Amino acid sequence: MRVEGLFSLQGKVIVITGAAGLLGRRHAEAVGIAGGIPVLLDKSEAALREAASYLESKNVPSFHCETLDITNEVDVSTCCEKVLSKFGHVDGLINNAANNPAVKENDDLDKDFSRLENFPLSQWQQDMNVGVTGAFLCAKYFGYAISKNPEGGTILNISSDLGLIAPDQRLYRKEGVSENNQPVKPVTYSVAKTALIGLTRYLATYWADKNVRSNVLCPGGVENGQGGTFIQHVSSRIPLGRMAKADEYQGTVIWLLSQAASYVNGSVISADGGRTTW
Ligand SMILES: NC(=O)c1ccc[n+]([C@@H]2O[C@H](COP(=O)([O-])OP(=O)(O)OC[C@H]3O[C@@H](n4cnc5c(N)ncnc54)[C@H](O)[C@@H]3O)[C@@H](O)[C@H]2O)c1
Repeated sequence: MRVEGLFSLQGKVIVITGAAGLLGRRHAEAVGIAGGIPVLLDKSEAALREAASYLESKNVPSFHCETLDITNEVDVSTCCEKVLSKFGHVDGLINNAANNPAVKENDDLDKDFSRLENFPLSQWQQDMNVGVTGAFLCAKYFGYAISKNPEGGTILNISSDLGLIAPDQRLYRKEGVSENNQPVKPVTYSVAKTALIGLTRYLATYWADKNVRSNVLCPGGVENGQGGTFIQHVSSRIPLGRMAKADEYQGTVIWLLSQAASYVNGSVISADGGRTTW
């Protein structure tokens, strides 16, 4: 392989879950501009339409969208068959979808739902279903399809800096709220994001003989209108002194999917401005 072509994804069909979201559409853009065909999967049809307009505005030459709830096994299986019959092969999977439980304003002043002692079992199950079970199901069907390629392919799981470190709950404190009712980053985020590291390691060995590489990216927080004080406090915990921009993971995504990373397998890659180094 010549150095010039190392980062090319020419003709590669890359399935991306949660692809209509903030980062998913940027992953799709990166894949498309690198010559690949991003297949955008998301449960929200309206968000997929917006993502399609976004990709058109970025002159992505070729992409495909499917509405899919990744927690439904029958639907994942059917979608995989549909993608295979349309393109004939799947070369990559980005497990990117997540329930992102934002730390919300407290509606119930006596009982913040995000706190562990109040956290509803139904919310735990929902978050785990999307973040962990959905990734497993997509690996089961799309990963298996990748393993059938003569040249293999890649799986990239999207974890978080919070898959590597505990949330600093001081970041989410609200003034005027009693100590035992302060909002926190929910437990499910830490658990689901750490689980993806385990899934990555399992997959990295499972289909290694079929040349399927599996890696996990742990991005840091993206600045996205969170408010001045929060941004300032998070930034002070990051050696580079700022949060990420939404397009700052595109290079890492192309690298991990491409031949440039042909010997990278089972790796936990952090891209967090150095936050987990401190
Ligand atoms: N944005 C950040 O600051 C940040 C930081 C670190 C890690 N991450 C991780 O990056 C990934 C993308 O984050 P984002 O900020 O773009 O999130 P987002 O909330 O903007 O997008 C997530 C997408 O997943 C979709 N989704 C949810 N449940 C689904 C289901 N059952 N089936 C199919 N699609 C479903 C949603 O419709 C949404 O479009 C997530 O895994 C997140 O944890 C994000």
